[in-house]
Amino acid sequence: MTAYNFPQDFWWGSAASGPQTEGRLPGDGKGDNVWDHWFQAAPEKFFDGIGPGQTSQVYTKFREDVALMKATGHNSFRTSIQWSRLLPKGTGAVNPEAVKFYNAYIDELLAQGIEPFINLHHFDLPWSLQAAGGWLNRETVEAYVEFAKTCFTLFGDRVKKWFTFNEPIVPVEAGYLYQFHYPLHTSLKEAVQVGFHECLASALAVAAYRELKQDGEIGVILNLSPSYPRDENNPADCQAAHRANLYFNRSFLDPALKGSFPPELIALLKEQDCLPVYRATDLTTIKDNTIDLLGVNYYQPRRVKAKETPLDHSHGPMPEDYFDVYDWPAKKINPYRGWEIYEKGLYDLLIDVRDNYDNFPCFISENGMGVEGEARYRNADGVIEDDYRITFIKDHLRYLHQALAEGCKVRGYHVWTCVDNWSWTNAYKNRYGLISVDLEHDASRTIKKSGHWFKQLAEEHGFTD
Ligand code: BG6
Repeated sequence: MTAYNFPQDFWWGSAASGPQTEGRLPGDGKGDNVWDHWFQAAPEKFFDGIGPGQTSQVYTKFREDVALMKATGHNSFRTSIQWSRLLPKGTGAVNPEAVKFYNAYIDELLAQGIEPFINLHHFDLPWSLQAAGGWLNRETVEAYVEFAKTCFTLFGDRVKKWFTFNEPIVPVEAGYLYQFHYPLHTSLKEAVQVGFHECLASALAVAAYRELKQDGEIGVILNLSPSYPRDENNPADCQAAHRANLYFNRSFLDPALKGSFPPELIALLKEQDCLPVYRATDLTTIKDNTIDLLGVNYYQPRRVKAKETPLDHSHGPMPEDYFDVYDWPAKKINPYRGWEIYEKGLYDLLIDVRDNYDNFPCFISENGMGVEGEARYRNADGVIEDDYRITFIKDHLRYLHQALAEGCKVRGYHVWTCVDNWSWTNAYKNRYGLISVDLEHDASRTIKKSGHWFKQLAEEHGFTD
């Protein structure tokens, strides 16, 4: 038997987001965001035709959910403030109903001894800003800073962990390269501009947080995927992996933690004639406003090999000009989501942060497993027996434990997610929660076997097996 003990003050909890949980009610004052708009325009793109209005109804059920967080051992929980709820038009008037809701939600978390970790942007740009060009438009950066300041001023007396963005590379990849989120473009030049504006917006929010003399920590949450070469002994494969890492990890990691972009990435983008438009002072802003705390979302690795297929320039330059995706035959896969499960990737990421980013303080801000058709595992008491999820979490925690033992400054572990929530175009296809939701009836919640196990994990500060 081996004991995996974690520090007494380790953060145990889960993560979610406003747009994936809150839902919409008449009179709540929320404005449309890009998801509301896209769903109205193309509901067929969403699994089973379920859109962002029909989520797990946290807007009315948050007290029940906070009680369930407590019952599953949470000492911390992340969600996001929906920009389109707080500022329905993206800028200007504050929605008083939103202020009431977020105040009550935050107060309830605190009353139950659960620390709120609050994120500002989770893919949910207000529609009015998207219609005016979205993150391509520099005015969105200014609007975002106004939103961030409003949040700090309204809630910063109680919220002491803030995050500027969740996975800022997702709007870049999904919206402007690979066409799985609105506006479904493919243009590396646009993608780079969007990414640059997000980096600038994040740095400006960090600056505003400090100017307002707030006394908590502010960070960013990045989805990192270690890039592995097909063959470690093949220099061309290694160079391909190195370049994929520049595009997909270091593009956001370096500016957030070191205050500058990797020169090699700049050189590649220059070669592709895809450098962004910016002002010289922007680079100083990014340099001077690095974060305090890094959230690492880890789901899957990236596997690449040297470029073998001909360059496809039908959409102009792409990151894949410099590598090909490698399909590792030995991979273990989550068949529902189609993502590889590779637990050691979490350890490799943490070691990278330790060795190449001066052991920057971080935590695992998302890790989880989405499974379709979980109702088949429901027992006679109505509890979903999701042993596979317990195995998944344990398998990752062993590597996290090893990273801690080897000196990484990792402060916590948050599962994606608490109560099953709405997954963008996948809607409720794959369920990730420690707690199930009965969407067919009254959205009632039941703790899954993993939720009961998680409580024990948190109470015992680890597990033995
Ligand atoms: C993360 C996001 O990328 O993964 C979440 O922060 C998302 O918003 C989660 O829901 C799981 O991915 P998906 O696409 O299956 O919902």
